[in-house]
Amino acid sequence: MSAAQNIPTRNRDGASAVTNSFDPSTSPTATFTSPSNSFSHRASQSSSTKQLKPFNTQDVKVLLLENINVTGQDILRQQGYQVEALKSSLPEDQLIEKIKDVHVIGIRSKTKLTAKVLEHAKNLIVIGCFCIGTNQVDLTAAANAGIAVFNSPFSNSRSVAELVISEIIALARQLADRSMELHKGIWNKVSAGCWEVRGKTLGIVGYGHIGNQLSVLAEAMGMSVIYYDVVNLMSMGTAKQVPTLKALLEGADFVTLHVPEIPETQNMISTEQFGYMRKGSYLINASRGTVVDIPALVEAMRSGKIAGAAIDVYPNEPAGNGDYFNKELNTWAEDLRSLKNLILTPHIGGSTEEAQSAIGVEVADALAKYVNEGSTVGAVNMPEVNLRSLTADEPNHVRIIYIHKNVPGVLRRVNEVLGEHNVDKQMTDSRGDVAYLMADISNVNQRDIASLYNSLEDLGSRVRTRVLY
Ligand SMILES: NC(=O)c1ccc[n+]([C@@H]2O[C@H](COP(=O)([O-])OP(=O)(O)OC[C@H]3O[C@@H](n4cnc5c(N)ncnc54)[C@H](O)[C@@H]3O)[C@@H](O)[C@H]2O)c1
Repeated sequence: MSAAQNIPTRNRDGASAVTNSFDPSTSPTATFTSPSNSFSHRASQSSSTKQLKPFNTQDVKVLLLENINVTGQDILRQQGYQVEALKSSLPEDQLIEKIKDVHVIGIRSKTKLTAKVLEHAKNLIVIGCFCIGTNQVDLTAAANAGIAVFNSPFSNSRSVAELVISEIIALARQLADRSMELHKGIWNKVSAGCWEVRGKTLGIVGYGHIGNQLSVLAEAMGMSVIYYDVVNLMSMGTAKQVPTLKALLEGADFVTLHVPEIPETQNMISTEQFGYMRKGSYLINASRGTVVDIPALVEAMRSGKIAGAAIDVYPNEPAGNGDYFNKELNTWAEDLRSLKNLILTPHIGGSTEEAQSAIGVEVADALAKYVNEGSTVGAVNMPEVNLRSLTADEPNHVRIIYIHKNVPGVLRRVNEVLGEHNVDKQMTDSRGDVAYLMADISNVNQRDIASLYNSLEDLGSRVRTRVLY
């Protein structure tokens, strides 16, 4: 790894200067540190992959808030980035101060990255949400500022599937009721209404990441599996896809929901659907709270149609832990609490040590790949664009990343700039008002790099330019 090199660049007034002290993306205030440590170590790279760095080599500063799992911290440190990790989130004024200086920020659900906060994030190129949700970030403001946002939607799939498996057996054996009775000193040994799960049918609604895992686990316990999904999907094992939700509800002893929260899934299970379900069947919802019409569930359980249910998610959930599960939160909360053979859990489906660790790895890897190579695969607010890694056999190649306003005529102007060179590969895509272009150019010398950068920066459509080489 060579030390940082001075590159002749053009000042805004057109005069030539030898400097690499300005940030090519946003920051007029960034200071240059040389030699850079940030690109000295690439743990995950194969030996033939070329190590890229921005042409204005600076140390990459990373701020991690809210006690990000150590797996994620380690990956970012191994990249050579300067990582500061804090245990808690920060109040807005402190956040604004800190964010001015960093290129990467990692948060969980408590840190609010509003448009106001992001306005001050002059050096920031990427945000990592080390969690599932991203509604704590103003995604549009971030995209308009050329800041990519990544999260980890699937790292906890296995944890959810395992919770559901445990609930299937617990419901079939009325386990939660027996345990609660004995906690109160009541011995109540019964077998009526208690079943083995072997030979029963599990109906999975939504056969995605979680549904798939569940399918395999349920078959291993001797259950038959049917599933309903809006997409035609390959079955795991001997599971069978059914054509309608009605067919699934009529055919299953246990129904478990694993669909996203979208308008089509709102109250997907309501009075009509409970009508289709088998008498004495069970319902499990660990997807999203709006998918089940809870008053209809209360009715179905009171009537004996549904023999038990497990609910992990609710239309309204408290922001923190405490005695909040009452009718102020959801009007029907106390009706729900009064029901027998109903397992209520506080949205813990994905809450395991393994899931937290997997989230750390997934998000930190995505951040490093974005910083080092510009790949937006998995970004939630930018088009997904990727080019294969440059190799050591391509020493004079540079990678241009040009985030720009999605307006007519930009590509023509960009290609006029790039057209002087040999564009080996190029990919571009847009999402809303923002477009993302990646191009690998060969036979570029140091002077060309600065000139390419300056020419792209001068285009009116520019949101952010990065040049990696
Ligand atoms: N309880 C928890 O802690 C927890 C943790 C993780 C995920 N979740 C939730 O679980 C749900 C499923 O997650 P996933 O990772 O398996 O998602 P996924 O995107 O992998 O799978 C969802 C599946 O649902 C299907 N689908 C969409 N609309 C449908 C409809 N109207 N009818 C039938 N199928 C439909 C999709 O085609 C897809 O196959 C999501 O709502 C997610 O937010 C909850």
